[in-house]
Parts: sequence; structure tokens; C-alpha cells
Amino acid sequence: MLASVMGLMRLPFVRATPLGQDLHGVKTVKTIKPNFEVLESVDKLCAAWLGHAGFLIQLPAEPGQRPVRIVFDPIFSDRAYPSAWIGPRRRLLAPCKIEELPDVDFVAVSHNHYDHCDLDALKAMWKKSHGVEFLVPLGVKATLESVGIPSRRIHELDWWDNVAFPPTIGRKFSYSFTCTPAQHNSGRGILDQNWTLWCSWVVQQISEGDPVAASVFFAGDTGYQTAGGACPIFKEIGEKLGPFNLAMIPIWSGASLTVLGKMGYKLSDDSHLATLHATPEDAVRMAADVRARHTLAMHFATFAGSDDEALEPLVRLAKAQGGTADWRQEGGFGAIDVGECVELNCGSVE
Ligand SMILES: *[C@@H]1O[C@H](CO)[C@@H](O)[C@H](O)[C@H]1NC(C)=O
Ligand SMILES: [Zn+2]
Repeated sequence: MLASVMGLMRLPFVRATPLGQDLHGVKTVKTIKPNFEVLESVDKLCAAWLGHAGFLIQLPAEPGQRPVRIVFDPIFSDRAYPSAWIGPRRRLLAPCKIEELPDVDFVAVSHNHYDHCDLDALKAMWKKSHGVEFLVPLGVKATLESVGIPSRRIHELDWWDNVAFPPTIGRKFSYSFTCTPAQHNSGRGILDQNWTLWCSWVVQQISEGDPVAASVFFAGDTGYQTAGGACPIFKEIGEKLGPFNLAMIPIWSGASLTVLGKMGYKLSDDSHLATLHATPEDAVRMAADVRARHTLAMHFATFAGSDDEALEPLVRLAKAQGGTADWRQEGGFGAIDVGECVELNCGSVE
């Protein structure tokens, strides 16, 4: 019955294929209690997944100084929607309260969709520390101002624009944020479709005369396929700003619709949707295009409708890399748990 209704309505839903035994040794992800304490004693590049597209990144510390930290697309709400009652329900709980996060210097938002631009979370980040600088793509500044974040703290950028924060007293590193393209859309309602920009972000830690000490690429929400093949923008990002010590890339392969997921259906990742969301196979190509040395997966499992739907993207990710999904390998791409804090051996990127 459901299938025939969907067929009639020509909605892009397909029956989800139950996962067999061929799991490539992949384990599903869960929420764990964060070990943020490790961040205080580590001078390496660190990453913690906050769920969905939310990430906390700690850049390598300068001797005797607190390391600089960035949060991308934080979402701590139970539902990715304006109402607490409707909209996709969170399957993997947030790892902590925002107040429990370590001190953060920058918050970057990729676009205004509810699951990336959680205003409650952004407001709480501001309340927690009035030193935070916010970075948003064109048109999103007003949305942040609407919850009391002051205009002077919000940097609104167009694609390829860049803002650099010079070293503060006693420090040598400056921090450069580049708003890079993505292939997506935007809107918080029916009437504001595509009114504001969507983007990915490049962050570089730079000291004068030195090579880029550390750099990360945050893909936001993006597709990889176009009607004419691969989107060329990721190669361009890699050529202009890569390589990156770390990339965070979405691996979407199902609906974030709880009800449908429970019934065994998911959004099909056909070519139409693949232009707005990267499948796990696309994500692997994207990581290579931007020249990522290590890549962490995001934008999956957190709002998935079923256990299979949460696991399937990881299985496909492993398959697309010849059977493993180990982010610790050079060029590797894998996942960490929500709340897990990991260290990366940086070295300098050439
Ligand atoms: C919004 O932009 C996307 C391209 O990223 C396009 O596919 C879509 O048709 C646009 N929607 C509207 C309502 O303009
Ligand atoms: Zn989106």
C-alpha cells in the first residue's frame, strides 16, 4: 500500500535493502561520553564528532598557550526542525551539553538548513563565551543576529572570500577562514529557497614565513555529481588550498526520516538527490579531489531512521576504499563515535 502510494506520487523513496553479512568488518557508530580532558594536554590537531555535521576541531597549540578551537555546524537539538514536536528525531544523542564543551574561539556554519544552523546551539555558543567569532555564508548573518549574536562578531563571506584573524599578543599563528563553494541549496521555509548562500569551509593555521602549519576542510552539506559528471569545484579547492591534514565530508545514503526508516523505506540516492548530497562513493572521490590526508565521515547515523540506515553508509564507505574505512591511514576515510576525541599526527602540509 505504502509502496503504491509512493509510486503514484513519484516520490524518490525506495525500499531499503537489509544489510547482509558482507559488512567489511565495519562497526556502527554510537554516542560516547566525550573525553575532552585529553584536549588540554595535547598539542596536536584534534577532532571530536558532535553528531550529524557538528565537529569540534582543535588546532595544534603554541607552547604555553591554550589551543585554538573551532566548532562547525553544531546541532544539539533533539529534532532538526523549528518545532520540538515535528521533524526528524535524533537517533544518536548529543554527546554533552554545550556548556560542557571546552572553550571555543570560532564557530563556522555552512548554510541555513535546520540540521546545520541550529539557532539554539549557536545562541548557547555565544552565551558560553562572548569571545567567539562566527563565520557564515552570504545572507545568513541576519539569522544569527535574530538570536542576539552581535553583528560585529559575525563574518559573512561569499565563495572564495577569506577572513584572517591575526595573531594575538604572544602568539605567532594567524587563522585564515576561506568560504569555499559547495553544491547544495538553502532555505528555512517554503518562501526563502536559495535566498542565502551555502558553502564549505577551509581553515588554515599560518605563521609568517612558515608553511601552513595545519589546515582543515569542512564540506558542509554538498553533492558531488552534476548532470555532466563530477563537480569540478573540489579539485579546484584542492589545487588552490590543499592539501589538508583533515577533511570532514558527508556520507549520505538514506533518508533522515524516522517514520519511513522504521517502515523500511529510505530516500533513494538517485542522480537527482546525488546532486545535493554526496553518497559514500562520491565522498571518497571528493576527499581525493581536495587532497585530504585524513577524512572523517559526517552527516549520517545521527538522524537515521533505523540501525541499517545508520550502518549502510559506513559499509559502502569501506567498500569504496577496497574494504577498509580507516581514517588513520594516509589518505584514509572513516568514522569516529559521537563524543570521541581523536588526535592526528600533523607534520606540516607541504
Ligand atoms: C536551488 O538551487 C539548487 C542548486 O543547488 C537547484 O537545484 C534548485 O532548483 C534551486 N531551487 C529553487 C527553488 O530555486
Ligand atoms: Zn542541507
